[in-house]
Amino acid sequence: MFDLRFLERRPLIVGLEIGTAKVCAMVGEINAEGALTIIGIGQSPSRGVRKGEIVEPALAEEDVRAALSEAEHSADVEIRSVYLGVSGGHVVGFNNRGVQPIVSRDREIGEDDVNDVIRNAKAINIPAEHYVVHAIRQHFSVDDQDEIRDPVGMIGGRLEVEMHVIHGRTNRFQNAIRLVKGMHLEVEDIVFNGLASALGILTAEQKELGALVIDLGAGATEYVVYARGVVKHTGVLAVGGDHVSQDIALGLKVPQGRAEKLKFEHGDAIFDESAKGLTHTPPHELGLPERPLNIEHLRCVMSLRLQETFEIIREEVEEAGWLNQLRGGVFICGGGARVPRILELAERVFELPAFPGHARGISGLASALDQPEFSTAIGLVKFGAGQARKKNNRGSLRRLASWSPARIFSNLI
Ligand SMILES: Nc1ncnc2c1ncn2[C@@H]1O[C@H](COP(=O)(O)OP(=O)(O)O)[C@@H](O)[C@H]1O
Ligand SMILES: [Mg+2]
Repeated sequence: MFDLRFLERRPLIVGLEIGTAKVCAMVGEINAEGALTIIGIGQSPSRGVRKGEIVEPALAEEDVRAALSEAEHSADVEIRSVYLGVSGGHVVGFNNRGVQPIVSRDREIGEDDVNDVIRNAKAINIPAEHYVVHAIRQHFSVDDQDEIRDPVGMIGGRLEVEMHVIHGRTNRFQNAIRLVKGMHLEVEDIVFNGLASALGILTAEQKELGALVIDLGAGATEYVVYARGVVKHTGVLAVGGDHVSQDIALGLKVPQGRAEKLKFEHGDAIFDESAKGLTHTPPHELGLPERPLNIEHLRCVMSLRLQETFEIIREEVEEAGWLNQLRGGVFICGGGARVPRILELAERVFELPAFPGHARGISGLASALDQPEFSTAIGLVKFGAGQARKKNNRGSLRRLASWSPARIFSNLI
């Protein structure tokens, strides 16, 4: 007979992105062999979010409910907790260094020294109203020896650690967390959307080679640099596809919804001879004035906006010193990855090979894995699976006070 108790205990991992264009809930499951499979997906158009942040909670809640309910049906499960993606122009990433003298007589580095040096690196000056979402270990150095992944057992006088810290305004994160908790769901953790997308699409080899992931969303563009296997640089621009549509609406004097449609039908990332003199006359039944719309102008506006976005990212990555470390190339995901010739534009601006971001290291619903908009939600599931595996390795981590979500968020809620 079918054992219902088994169903209840299935180790589910749910990623939730409350994006500007859509809310997406992705359901993953870890099988007995530890492999991760996507077993369900739900989505809803998003109405309560601007520039990657919740501005109309009641609408956002309705849309989250719709996405979660669809995901529950599609996976035939009950969702009790989620890994929640966060973004917004207030999110900042930077590198920090911690230093710790090794004082034991034999000068052998122990677990305690590692914990201390990490604590030092975390003791950073961020604004009081900010919350650290991630403090990611990059690598250690012992005296003058660099690039050490695990220093325990080494002999030395000074231990240093490099960390990448991602933080943002506490109350903005609270808005999203409170919304989800208000629906009687647990928030297992919050994760920066850009990091989730990179996790979703990069292989270990690409992270090692060096790669830039750009997630072109509707209200925000997130980017992440990996090099030598670790996160080196992250950022958010509070601009995205919505702004392209706004510009088109202004330029062509059409409503924003119409501009969005025209962008889908006639958009291109590159403005060249092929756009010269292009017009489009809307069909009579739309009830719009039958004046020809200037598609040449649409292409010009769109390509300029996208080029500007890439140029800003290039400048920041170059300034941080990572542009010549990207031997794996540039990966584009998010809805903007669907824009014709977007990869060609990225190759021109970054002078690097560019690729579409595909979900990696995960199987299941092909309809979920192939879509560029779902990289973040898939990455959230992968992040959750990583946490679950760690938890498994260490016995029941829930018992550890340091992990308990309630403890993590006690200062957030
Ligand atoms: N074929 C396309 N051409 C142009 N823009 C597109 C296309 N497909 C999606 N987009 C744009 O991608 C954005 C949505 O991307 P998505 O990653 O889902 O956003 P978010 O994560 O912010 O909800 C919208 O601005 C939409 O206009
Ligand atoms: Mg997004």
